[in-house]
Amino acid sequence: MATLPERYTAWWQKLSRYNQTHLLKFWPALTDVERAQLLDDLEQVDFELCAPLIETHVRRRPAVRIPEHIEPPPSYPAEPGPGQEDLYARARRAGEEALRAGQVAAFTVAGGQGTRLGFDGPKGAFPISPVRNATLFQLFAEGLLGLERRYGRRPRWYIMTSPTNHTETTGFFAAHGFFGLRPDEVVFFQQGQMPAFLPDGRMALADRHRLALSPDGHGGSLRALRERGALDDMRAHGIDTISYFQVDNPLVRTIDPLFVGLHLLTGSEMSSKAVTKAFDTEKVGNFCLVDGRVTVIEYSDLPDALATARNADGSRRFDAGSIAIHVLSRTFVERLTAPGARVHLPWHRAEKKVPTVDETGRVVEPTAPNAVKLELFVFDAIPLAERPLVLFTQRAEEFSPVKNAEGLDSPATARRDLVRRAARWLEACGVSVPRGPDGEPAAPIEISPAFALDAEDLRARLAARPPLTVEPGKPLLLA
Ligand code: UD1
Repeated sequence: MATLPERYTAWWQKLSRYNQTHLLKFWPALTDVERAQLLDDLEQVDFELCAPLIETHVRRRPAVRIPEHIEPPPSYPAEPGPGQEDLYARARRAGEEALRAGQVAAFTVAGGQGTRLGFDGPKGAFPISPVRNATLFQLFAEGLLGLERRYGRRPRWYIMTSPTNHTETTGFFAAHGFFGLRPDEVVFFQQGQMPAFLPDGRMALADRHRLALSPDGHGGSLRALRERGALDDMRAHGIDTISYFQVDNPLVRTIDPLFVGLHLLTGSEMSSKAVTKAFDTEKVGNFCLVDGRVTVIEYSDLPDALATARNADGSRRFDAGSIAIHVLSRTFVERLTAPGARVHLPWHRAEKKVPTVDETGRVVEPTAPNAVKLELFVFDAIPLAERPLVLFTQRAEEFSPVKNAEGLDSPATARRDLVRRAARWLEACGVSVPRGPDGEPAAPIEISPAFALDAEDLRARLAARPPLTVEPGKPLLLA
């Protein structure tokens, strides 16, 4: 093991090659513990990768290519249209078959920093369900237990964390007995990090002995799946299909047999779920056909003229909003991340407020964006996939993310939508649900995904029980 002075010398040489020796500026004033910490941070950085990006994405803004042809993408409707009934029925069976054979895994990206929510902890540990206050992670775990009940096989679950929340996340699962799953069925791995850059291309120091590092975006999940051994683990377990979802959506169906089956039957390499947008400028990615390839254009990048464009019948022309639920073929991820792969996800530049040290080593909180962060987005893999597929779904059934502390996409709206969905499912099963003058269910109702995965599942479950009554104001829990 090299000594600290030896490591310092080696790093000085390396950093000289990359014009980043300012990172060692405070070395003489650091304790040995701090020195070791700084060198550990440096080890995290892929300098070879960063060097060209500094030129193309930091010192300059990358040229934004305005595509010539942007069209709405082809898509599959939520309910089969005329002539599609047979395909949907076969797809559902194929998806169920894959679940029974243990060929599908759930994959949650949970490495984000959750700054907007203002919750101190991994976002998955946020309590959200309306009656039990079950956390997001618990609801996902119960989704897998529900699938096991239905298809006789418990899917493996991969969870991507980041260095900032990894220990807290794994500790949270351990403290809660893995929510009824076996610890060896849940595979945690950490995503990569990228340094924040000052506009002149120097990497920013968060403190005299700390680099300003942050997760490399959910697109980093593909590389992390390979580098952290998750793809090998999948292969060893006979898993060839990956059901990807974000940590922020308590309504998600962790694995949807119809979606998986359509992906398999159509030979898609990467499939995505869409909802009809709530309004023109809703903050979701937009599925588009760009120069003939299915592509997601982020809300911030979609030209206004397109966001507001209408079809002849008055409907919104670009109406397929991304809910960040995808199915990926394992072999596609292997191909994209293979050493020497010729295509790569593009880096996105964001100007952010990053606390950094001044000349004297004092940490300064900026009041305006002072640094550039670079991130990868998973949906940029869609145009690289063969036969990508977009499947519409009902928002009320599957999407109500927790992003902000209040207002739109907040804990309050997600809880409301969980109750509304539970009430709808009960009514579909013939149970009458009292409603207030505003039409909202007059009692908090919660259905654990372990109890029922959808209205049809609920019908079968209720058939075996004495009739249910829902009383106004009285919480009802089916778990
Ligand atoms: C995202 C999508 C948007 C989509 C919307 C649906 C982007 C840029 N936009 O918006 O197209 O319509 O969700 O809800 O993604 N994460 C990591 N590591 C990271 C960064 C993020 O694991 O380095 C995870 C987060 O934990 C979270 C998810 O990715 O689960 C989403 O990240 P976030 O930055 O909150 O995306 P949004 O801007 O909300």
